[in-house]
Order: sequence, then structure tokens, then C-alpha cells
Amino acid sequence: MGTNGHNLITVIDIGSAKTAVILGEVAEGGLKYRGHGTAESRGTRKGAIVDLEKAAAAVHHAVERAELVSGATIANAIVTVGGTLVRGVNSRGGLTLGSRPRDVTRDDVRQAIERARSVAIPADREMLHLLPQEYIVDQQGAIRDPLGMTGAKLEVNLHIVTASSSQSQSVVTAANKAGVSADDTVFEALAAAEATLRPDERELGVCLIDIGAGSSELIVYFEGSVAHTGVVPIGGDHFTNDVAVGLRTPLSEAEKIKKNFGHAVVTQVPEGREIEVPGVGDRASRLMPQRLLAEILEPRASELFEYVSDNLRSGGVQDALGAGIVLTGGGSRLPGLLTVAEALLNVPARLASPTPLSKLPASLAEPEYATALGALHYAYRARVARRVPEENSFRARMRTLLERVSVL
Ligand SMILES: Nc1ncnc2c1ncn2[C@@H]1O[C@H](COP(=O)(O)OP(=O)(O)OP(=O)(O)O)[C@@H](O)[C@H]1O
Ligand SMILES: [Mg+2]
Repeated sequence: MGTNGHNLITVIDIGSAKTAVILGEVAEGGLKYRGHGTAESRGTRKGAIVDLEKAAAAVHHAVERAELVSGATIANAIVTVGGTLVRGVNSRGGLTLGSRPRDVTRDDVRQAIERARSVAIPADREMLHLLPQEYIVDQQGAIRDPLGMTGAKLEVNLHIVTASSSQSQSVVTAANKAGVSADDTVFEALAAAEATLRPDERELGVCLIDIGAGSSELIVYFEGSVAHTGVVPIGGDHFTNDVAVGLRTPLSEAEKIKKNFGHAVVTQVPEGREIEVPGVGDRASRLMPQRLLAEILEPRASELFEYVSDNLRSGGVQDALGAGIVLTGGGSRLPGLLTVAEALLNVPARLASPTPLSKLPASLAEPEYATALGALHYAYRARVARRVPEENSFRARMRTLLERVSVL
């Protein structure tokens, strides 16, 4: 999984704004940063690849830089998948263990999962993750590990994440075209959660929102398991577009203005402050009130969290957020966004940067890299789980097996 040699793991995160390649080294004390490369993304729109050649060129560029920095050759990688065509559904399945109660075996667990996953998935979709939520032995639920328990019936609740086949295939193909074999895929929000969420948040109930450039991926944990996943069709680029149209300035200038002076809450911008706005074409720059910029950004921020709210309601998890919401991704850096999120979702919110890895450069300890760094942790955990001796590793290996993604 994302290996180059026996102790390196590589992640490729093809975002709408940037393509990031990060190498980690599996060392004695855990996972270490080994190198990275980034490139401006090309050929992506709304979180999905629309031009393979351009996307592959960006991957190639980022891979070359990462190879230069790390001194390693990148042959394999784990790639991230996001965008509005990713879906999450819950499913239950199980089996009768016989006419009299008996002990639950590994085979029973496998069969229960097999039945729960056999829900109809359209031919144009691929399974990204199978995430067990709880096992139920006879009437008793909330079981994390049913092995060795006694009962007459075993059931499992699973959360299944799927993506459109063409979409997950394109990230794999973009990597392949750049000379890297993509041997695993991970849903962006699941990856970002690995780098940002605390165990107590996952227990109490939390929603992580990875606000990217083209879309925002979300994942909800409750009682330690994944309860819901979703994607909403708004990211940082939508804010930039609004600024370009509203202030009549080129997109590149709108992006700078948004980052330097943007705020999502109008009343928090002092009246009377002015900003310089370059004109389109030959038109001269103008001075405009900074509040006007916030007046453009605030409705978009509200719309983003209204989408999130609808998505949580459709997943039936709106009341499961005891630990509130966590924002990450480049788009989360807009000042005032937390206030809008808290007001619309009625729960406390915090901003999260990825937990730093040993030797990680400070420039990567930023919300934009939560997904790529989380994917590295994800691949590392799966690798470690595979190495644990047979006896006590069943759960870990089962999890690895279930979280595995086969798009190849
Ligand atoms: N200081 C800031 N204020 C507001 N927005 C910001 C700031 N810094 C970055 N952004 C926005 O964050 C977005 C990029 O975030 P990120 O790198 O996480 O996206 P991505 O991973 O490339 O895209 P996606 O995940 O949607 O495919 C851009 O839209 C950018 O304008
Ligand atoms: Mg992203």
C-alpha cells in the first residue's frame, strides 16, 4: 500500500487547487516525514478530474520534486478520492448461527460482513470503504468485537463509501500516467480525519468538514465509528468566484483579496476600511469598502453550512454531534467561518491543522495538507496492522481488509 521499498509510504492528493505528494518513512519510533512535492493542479474541476493529461502532468511535477527532496524513487502510492460523486450509505446484514446458540467464529464475522455489503451497488460505482459500525449478537448491539461471544444470530451494521467508477479510475490513471502505480485509494474526509480528530471527539460524535477548493468532504463519527459521509458542492473557489464577479476583478486578484482581506462575518469588519481592487483588463484599480467584500463572502459561507446541515439531516446524524464540528482544508482559513458554522449548525466548532509528524516542515502543518498527511497515517496504520502477529491481530487485519479499496 503506497510503498516504495519496504519502509516508505507515498501519498498523492490530487486536489482542485494543488496536487501534493508526501513521502513518509516507517521508522522504529513510528512514522517520519521523508519528503514532499507540490504542484498547482490542472485539469480538475469541482473536486474531480476533467482532463487526465493535465492532471497527470501536475502529478508528475509534484512526484519529481518529492523524489528530489527525499532522494527516493516513487513507484507506488496511495491516492485520495473526493468530489461530489462520492456517496456513503449504511447497511445491515447477518446470519443465523444455528438452532442453538454457539460461539461466533472469524468465518461468521466474514460472512456477516459479506451479506451486509451485498446491497445493490450500481454498476457504475465502486466500493471505496467498508467500515463496520457495530455488531449485534442476538438482541445485544454496540459490540465492537463479537469473536468468542455466544449467540444464535450475528448481525453487523456497516458504513459503505462508494465513488463513481470513472472518478476513482481517473485518479488511478492520472497517477499511472505520471509513472506511479496507485495501489490503494482513500476517501479524502476519512484521510483528513486521521490527521485531525481526537479519540474523545469520535466517541462523543463529531463532524469533520474538509473545505477544499472545489468541494467540501465531510465525515461523521459517533461512538467511535463512522456514522455518515458526504460531499457538498461548495469549496473555496466558489468564494473566489463570487469576489471576482462582485468586485469586478480578475480571478487571480479575487483570490489574493479573499486571502488577505476576506471575512465571513460582515459585522466583524470595521466600517470605513478600504481595500484596493484591481480592475479587469485596462481598467484602473479602485478603492472599495472591506465590508463589501464580507457582504459577498458571508452569504456563500451560510450557503456552505446550509448544505452541510441538509446533508447531516439526510444522514440522520444532526443530533449526534456531541463534540461539535471540526473544519480543515484550505477553505477553512477564511476568518469568521467558525462563527457562521456555529450559528448555522448550533454546535461548537474548531479549526484543525494536521497533527505534525516527526521531522515535518512547518509549511505542511497547515489545513491544506490534512488530507494528504491523514492518508499517510491511514496507510501507515494499515501497514502496522498487517505486521502484528496473527494471534492478536484479527480485528486489526479485518479492519485493514475492510478499509481496503480495490479500484484496480
Ligand atoms: N487564507 C485563506 N482564506 C480563504 N481561503 C483560503 C485561504 N487560504 C486558502 N484558501 C482557499 O483554500 C482552497 C484550497 O484548499 P485546499 O488546498 O485544501 O484544496 P484542494 O485540496 O486543492 O481542493 P479539493 O480538496 O476541493 O479538491 C482555495 O480555494 C483557496 O482559495
Ligand atoms: Mg483537498
